[in-house]
Amino acid sequence: MKGIILAGGTGTRLYPLTLTVNKQLMPVYNKPMIYYPLSVLMLAGIQDILIISTPNSLPLFRQLLQDGSQWGLRLSYMEQPRPGGIAEAFTLGRSFINDEPVCLVLGDNILYGDGLGGLLQQSAQLQEGALIFGYQVANPQQYGVIEFDQAGRVIGFEEKPKFPKSPYAIPGIYFYDSKVCDLAETLRPSARGELEITDLNQKYLDRGQLQVEILGRGYAWLDTGTHESLHQASSFIQTLEERQGLKIACVEEIAFQKGYITDNQLYHLAKPLAKSEYGAYLMQLLESYSSHLIPAKVPVLEAI
Ligand code: G1P
Repeated sequence: MKGIILAGGTGTRLYPLTLTVNKQLMPVYNKPMIYYPLSVLMLAGIQDILIISTPNSLPLFRQLLQDGSQWGLRLSYMEQPRPGGIAEAFTLGRSFINDEPVCLVLGDNILYGDGLGGLLQQSAQLQEGALIFGYQVANPQQYGVIEFDQAGRVIGFEEKPKFPKSPYAIPGIYFYDSKVCDLAETLRPSARGELEITDLNQKYLDRGQLQVEILGRGYAWLDTGTHESLHQASSFIQTLEERQGLKIACVEEIAFQKGYITDNQLYHLAKPLAKSEYGAYLMQLLESYSSHLIPAKVPVLEAI
């Protein structure tokens, strides 16, 4: 399965922070925001990833993430010249996707939860149809929202409805089969002039090919769209990381645990970062493994 991270947008709700810097390069506690969706794809076992962003920001993402080989990945880059909507990822990304199933993650979505890695790996097995998620939120009117019938079946979606028909919002992670590019070509721009992901999901639903999985209260799906929610997301990450001494969305750790890089490669990645507590963590990780302080297979160590 291929992966796409959509990291465009103007980030107007974060002004003046995002006047010059792309939102997905902003810190969420101790790492750039894009590390979180990148980790999600890595946990799903996806190594071939396209980053789509604005012409201004793309060079910065390239500088940060390079070609991905340092983490055992293959990263490619593509410009989204104008904000044409989320579903435009599939018309722009057609040649990258190359008739394979694909997972799209929005660059500003943060997902966390015990067992997330397993769920993602299983989702990445998808060959037919589409798989999306639902998550209860207090402010569904700010998202794509799921509508259910009396029997609990999904019957439709609405994008940012004034009067939401359920509290279940759709997080920005979507799995599609190889027909997604053709279906995206048939979409027409919405009233706000964008190819809406909600319309694409509706097409799969109409064909009887959409699966919706509800993420329960043990998961955290965090927003980063406003100053307040960005700060809350940072606090959440800080609280968990400090309590457990384990990092969330540490791409080097995931690459190491997945066996994409050796301990020697991890050492060379950690060394230039060693003055920060992030780098120190990587060094400590290496020590723990080499001294067998922590057995490699303790399940709690699943990196997320
Ligand atoms: C987009 C989607 C929406 C989804 C949300 C998740 O909204 O259009 O359906 O629920 O991402 O983050 P946006 O963040 O672009 O307003």
